[in-house]
Amino acid sequence: MSVFEGKHILLGVTGSIAAYKAADIASKLTQAGAEVDVVLTEHARRFITEVTFRAITRRPVLIDLFDEPEERQIAHIHLAKRADVLLIAPATANILAKLAYGIADDLLTTLALATQAKLVIAPAMNTVMWQNPATQQNVRILEARGARFVYPVEGMLACGDVGAGKLADTPTILQAIEEVLNPPLRGVRLLVTAGPTEEPIDAVRHISNPSSGKMGYAIADEALRQGAEVTLVTGPTLLAPPAGAKTVPVRTAQQMLDACLQVYDAVDVVIATAAVSDYRPAEVWQGKRKKGEPEWTIRLVPNPDILRTLGERKGKQILVGFAAETQELLQNAQQKLREKNLDLIVANDVSQEGAGFRADTNRVTLLWADSTQKPLPLMSKREVAQYVLQAVRDLLRARSSSEG
Ligand code: PMT
Repeated sequence: MSVFEGKHILLGVTGSIAAYKAADIASKLTQAGAEVDVVLTEHARRFITEVTFRAITRRPVLIDLFDEPEERQIAHIHLAKRADVLLIAPATANILAKLAYGIADDLLTTLALATQAKLVIAPAMNTVMWQNPATQQNVRILEARGARFVYPVEGMLACGDVGAGKLADTPTILQAIEEVLNPPLRGVRLLVTAGPTEEPIDAVRHISNPSSGKMGYAIADEALRQGAEVTLVTGPTLLAPPAGAKTVPVRTAQQMLDACLQVYDAVDVVIATAAVSDYRPAEVWQGKRKKGEPEWTIRLVPNPDILRTLGERKGKQILVGFAAETQELLQNAQQKLREKNLDLIVANDVSQEGAGFRADTNRVTLLWADSTQKPLPLMSKREVAQYVLQAVRDLLRARSSSEG
């Protein structure tokens, strides 16, 4: 039976040239057994009429907040309560801003505030509008609240520009709804390491690195949304721990190793994004060392390699590492994959603009143990997380089918 069978989907269509593609989405959802109620904004009606959707869904199409097709019910509250999913496709920059700030000035935005249904948003707009920091900030606000985005793809846009902004295709949007209704990582126990480690020199100084934790937290958050049970072992960061994760704060590499070993036997997947200090001071000065002597030599000794230790003890787990490199990206990443007994490594050229430490975006290449590779363009860390988790799902599936 289709996951859509008997499900109630509210489809909000906003004023984009891509509005005509919403007819195909409505049609495919209806064919798959969903009951689809279409809500058009005034601007959407400039691009497509209600007649199209009424014919496809064989249901009334809603436009005005004060339309009451059934006398005894307040339409927007009734619809909001019944919905399993609110899909907004195409979503303009305007609707993203309204949703982010809770503005309810028409039927669709009022429904969005009144519903507890899962929110799936497929934006479509001009590339510059999509990349505008205001739009990107609204995307992050909505994602942090649990909205599932189906990001626009690159291509020739109606305005003649070429770039990211085209509405994702119907199968991709349907797959996102399916994942929201039936989270694909349900039952999977995942350990994520994130952030830097700090190796104390004295009471107030330490050795560390610029990791912000954003990459690891994006993976933890996305995995939670996909239904996984997540333990997040994190070095010091300024980020709020993702709601729903079991978060274990640590400071040093040794503490991170101990925390990972505590849960290792009980997890199915490990994703190590942490930037672990390879060395620590051999002696930690008691109190704060006073200034005075002309030189201070600090002797460093190697830290344990957490991922290598997990690789040596690997049972059924899928192990995914990240490789932060500034040269020979793929060769170095491949070597780490082999030496640490990993299933997948995410090669991260941290010398590139907009990639690696601190940025909200990243540019990575996925490398598998069989030498297959998948280079990805510059994208948000959330999108990188989605690609990594898709690869994890494929590895889990391959493993369970090889076990018979
Ligand atoms: O936190 P952000 O600001 O978002 O930045 C993200 C990031 C750049 C930190 C992240 O994308 C990244 O590349 N993480 C890997 C950082 C790293 O330490 O890479 P590495 O090549 O030194 O280590 C390879 C792998 O072994 C990593 O998975 C690392 O977690 C692990 N490792 C390394 C050293 C060590 N002693 N123990 C380990 O477990």
